[in-house]
Formats: sequence, C-alpha cells, structure tokens
Amino acid sequence: MTSPKEIRTRFLEFFKAPPRSHAVIPSASLVPENDPTTLFTGSGMQPLIPYLLGEPHPLGARLADSEKCFRAEDIDEVGDNRHTTFFEMLGNWSLGDYWKEEQLPWLFEFLTDGDRGAGLDPARLYATVFSGGDGVARDEDSIGIWKKIFSAHDINAAYAEMGTEEEGAARGMKEGERIFGYGVRKNWWSRSGIPSKMPAGEPGGPDSEVFYDFDPMGVMHDAGKYGTHCHPNCDCGRFLEIGNSVFMEFRKKEDGGFEKLPRRNVDFGGGLERITAAANGRPDIFDIDTFDEVKKILEISTKKRYADQPKEFRIILDHVRAAVFIIADGVSPSNTGRGYVLRRLLRRAIRFADKLNANDLVITNGGARKDFYLNTTVIMDAAEWFIKAYTGAFVLDRNEILPVVKKEEEQFRATLARGLKEFERWYAEPDQEAQKRMPGLVAFNLFTTFGFPLELIIEIANERGVGVDIVGPQGFKELMKQHQELSRTSSAGMFKGGLADHSEKTTRLHTAHHLLLRALQAVLGPQVKQRGSNITSERLRMDFSYDGKMTDEEKRETERIVNEKIAEDLPVIRSEMAREDAEKIGAEHEFGQKYPDRVSVYSVGPKGATPQDPRIAEAFSIEFCGGPHVAHTGEIGHFRIVKEEAVGQGIRRIRGVLE
Ligand code: ALA
Repeated sequence: MTSPKEIRTRFLEFFKAPPRSHAVIPSASLVPENDPTTLFTGSGMQPLIPYLLGEPHPLGARLADSEKCFRAEDIDEVGDNRHTTFFEMLGNWSLGDYWKEEQLPWLFEFLTDGDRGAGLDPARLYATVFSGGDGVARDEDSIGIWKKIFSAHDINAAYAEMGTEEEGAARGMKEGERIFGYGVRKNWWSRSGIPSKMPAGEPGGPDSEVFYDFDPMGVMHDAGKYGTHCHPNCDCGRFLEIGNSVFMEFRKKEDGGFEKLPRRNVDFGGGLERITAAANGRPDIFDIDTFDEVKKILEISTKKRYADQPKEFRIILDHVRAAVFIIADGVSPSNTGRGYVLRRLLRRAIRFADKLNANDLVITNGGARKDFYLNTTVIMDAAEWFIKAYTGAFVLDRNEILPVVKKEEEQFRATLARGLKEFERWYAEPDQEAQKRMPGLVAFNLFTTFGFPLELIIEIANERGVGVDIVGPQGFKELMKQHQELSRTSSAGMFKGGLADHSEKTTRLHTAHHLLLRALQAVLGPQVKQRGSNITSERLRMDFSYDGKMTDEEKRETERIVNEKIAEDLPVIRSEMAREDAEKIGAEHEFGQKYPDRVSVYSVGPKGATPQDPRIAEAFSIEFCGGPHVAHTGEIGHFRIVKEEAVGQGIRRIRGVLE
C-alpha cells in the first residue's frame, strides 16, 4: 500500500527536480490571512492570490506545495467514498511562466511514473477540458495536447463534447473516447465558481481535470453498480477526479466581461488522498494509512466494523481529523464563525461515536505515552492518533490540541445532560404525554436554551413514541426562522441558529462591544462603522472602518469613555420595532447586513430609561442586535484594549478584554 506521505514527497520532489525546478513552499494556515471573504482556506490558490494577480513571489515563478484545505460546505457530503472536509491539495504553480504545453505532460508523467510518481496505469486516466461558454472559446490547445499524450501511450483518445452534466448523462460515453468537453459548471475555475458568480477583479479560467477509472473492465458497471450512461462527471462512483489544472488567464471586468490577466498562470490542485486511493486501486479515500490506527480504535471501542458501517466511521474519522488541524491553526470552539464550525465538527463526531455505542473505556492513550496528559475518551484518543499520523509533515502540538478537544467534549456532555433533564421534565407533564407530540416551542427551547441538537431531540422523543412538530405553522423550523431573523444582528452576524452563548463573561463582553463602537465614533469620528465582530468568553474583537492607525492617546480615550459609561451603570434595554423606525432613531447596523422588517434593538442609557421609553432615542448607544446583554453597564467590569491593528485596506481590528 502506498501511503499519502510517499505520494506527497514524490510530488514535491518531482516538481523540484529539473527541468521543472519548482521552489517548494510550506502550507499556509487554514485560517486565511487578510482575506475576509472566507472562513477557511479551501483551495491551494487562496493564499497565493496576490501572486496570481501579478505581485512577484520571493521564491520565483514556479512553486509547489501541499496545502491544507477545509471545506465546511462539504460537511453533509462526508460519509461516501470520496468526500472529506479537510484534505491536502497538492499544488504546482506557474506564475506567468510555463503554460499548457508543459503542465499537462508533466502532470501525466507524475501520475503514471512508477518510480518518481504515483504509478497509475495510463489506460485508467481520462481528461476533461473546457468546451466553451460565457464568451470564452473551447480549449482546443488542451484537447490537442491530451491527444498527443494519450497517443504516445498507444491509447485511443477521441474527443467528445458533453456540454452540461445533464447532456453528458443523456449521451453517455462511447468506445475510444478519452477527452471530454464540459461547460462552465464543470470546467471553469475561480474562487467564486462560474463566470457569472465572479466579482469584478477576480481571476479565473478554463481548467482541465484528470479522472481515474476504478472499473476499467466494466465489471461493476455490468453488475448494475454504476449508472447506465456513465461518464467522467456523472458521480456514479466509477470515476474519481484526482486533479485539476487551471489555466488562469482571465480577470472579470466591471462590465461583466473578461480581460486577460497581465500574466497567465497555471494553478494545479490534486487531492492527495484521492491520488493515493487511485495508486492503491481502492475506491475509498478513507482506505489509506492515515486512518488505519483511528479506524482500529473505533472498531475496538464500538465492537463494529468499518466495512459494515462505513458512513458513521467516515464521519467520525473526517471530523476529528479536521478538528485537530483547525485547532492547531489557533481556532477554539465558540458560537460564531470558525469556532462554530469547529464546535459542529466535534459535536457531530461525538454524536456519531455515541450512536455506534463507542466505549470510552477502551482507549489506547496514543500508544500508552507517559506524558502528563491522559486521554479519557475515544474522541480524544482518535485526535491523538491523527496527531501521530501527521508527525513530520505538519506541526501538531498535542498539548495544545487535546485539552481543547477535552473541554469541548465535557461541555457538550454537560449540555446533553441538562437537555435530557429538561426533556424528562416536559415528558413528565401528563397532558403533554397524552398529546404524543412535542410542540415546536418545546423543541425550540431545548435547542436554543440548552443547545440540544435537533436530531437528538427527535431521536429521544421517538424512542418514547413521541413525534416532534418540526414543519407545522408553530413548528420548530418556523420558530427557528423567526428567531434567526431577530438575531441576525451586527454582533451575531455569523450566528447559525441555536447555541447562543449566554455565559456571563460573553454577555458582559457583548455589552462592552456596543459601548466600544460608540466610543470609537466619539474619538475617531462618526464615519467609523462596524465591519465584523467576534466574541468569545475571553475577549472581544471588532473590525471597523477607519483610515490610519490609532494613536496611543486615541486608544486611551476610547477606553476611558467605555469605562465611564460602565461606571454610570446605565440601563441596557431591548426593544422590538419596525426596521424603519430603528433606522430613524439611528440604530447602528453592520455594513452589508440585511435585516428583516421587524428587528430587535438594544440601547444603552439614558439613566432611568425603561422599556418602551421614548427616551431611548437619546441613548448613548443603539444597535440592531439579538443580545444577550447585561441589564446594567455596571455589571461589565473594567474594559481594556489589548491590541489595535490593520486587517485590510481601511479596516482596523481591536481586541479588548474585561478585567
Ligand atoms: N484551484 C483548483 C481547484 O481547487 C486547482 O480545483
């Protein structure tokens, strides 16, 4: 069995060696720097955007790497043989240097060379190219190059125009066809997808993908396993995409058309795990040695076999591994943004381990290491073994990672216990039981107040023969929708429903956050607008528009105002009103956010104000916000700015704490 480690090394060595002569660069963080457009690095090109747009790279015009990627949008896809949220993308880059004539043959050589590459059988490789669309012509050059490559290996390589996936499915593939043309949906690459979705200034271009055939004899196909009209992009499982060469030569214009980039680039991205699976001839990317140990641990602890319940196993394997890498890049679980994604991964892994009845007593403690840190659960043990599996390739510090996993698991278990108690309380009420149906409101409260996952509410209710009102007019979904509309506020921009953090410290920081925005406007000018925020129980972070660095005096003055308002012990009042009325009284909202017609507004001050009080129009601060907040500013404590820095053009970031 070839290991991903071997494939990674071979890829980097292959592109380092002359005549290719690439400089190997390390993977960037999963947390993108200075890129407010995405939460995580999801492709190799993301960290290289400035260079793709023309800035010279210090290491030259030819680069190769293995980039850590995370795609949160694939969470629900995990469970089949080909999807993971975290993966490594092998990349080689030409920054205005070589072009298609070099890229495609080099790639083919790497994929097929048994000594220096992945050793794949050329007869199992298929290529796709851009068939044209949105004002850009069919990629005839790539078709010609692929024909030459295949004929050098005595492989018939007719070109077939497929168009969309639907057209491709209707047509199927014919004997001798090897190169397939698809339109913008399949063979165009940009960070934002198809040409019409690209913002002005965004680079992109046609691409050419390589697919591996797991069923060359058509045996499984004939047995009915794969679709009747199978073709490389049909997703039936016969073909697996293993790499993509993007020929990035266009930039979107303001008028919607394209212009040529000053220098054209090649961006190749290949799935390390997928290439390894192909090299081993096994159509399952979880069937590689990275997962071996953790699979064993899960099999022992659940007394079940991976082969029998692959979906559940894969979800645990994927989520724990992704969590390990995300924590290593400095994220901790929270209720917003990246922290929320991490929380979801860990909690989902725990849920699936529970579903398989994983027994925490069967743990190996990372090979019985005698460190001070003892694993106490299967999930922690899995994390430990992933850390070991990647030793040498990435820096993963177990003493940083494992305590985060442990704490989150403990918190989640406590949440589950509280929710369960609450469920029993409701269940014990005689009239409810008689109804045999849990009202949406009860489920909603379990979810929002107790952080109880919906799937668990349903499961536990069903165990007692109780249904749950999910889709009725007063059902869970409707209540969630109303709740989310109310909470879609400046301070809760990325809040994904439920799990609002009502801890005391977070709540105090939340109110301090409102005071800070007003204080900044008082010190720097009313043009200051909030552009993003993130609050944990340790600190607050606010991004705001302002040109220039704050002076020390400005920082001190901002702190002074916040602390003065805290000392005044002003009332914090929540009101609901029409969006227009809130706008009329000047309530702050985050730039670019959309709000519903009725909004929740929090005001701070004036002294003596009460709910429904017209004096709230004179409040020190008024913001569109879903809360939670303290009742009086006196509860906040002392506020201090710990850091002020630039995060982008005209955007500053402040971190503040309470002491
Ligand atoms: N950036 C290209 C991709 O992710 C290689 O498919």
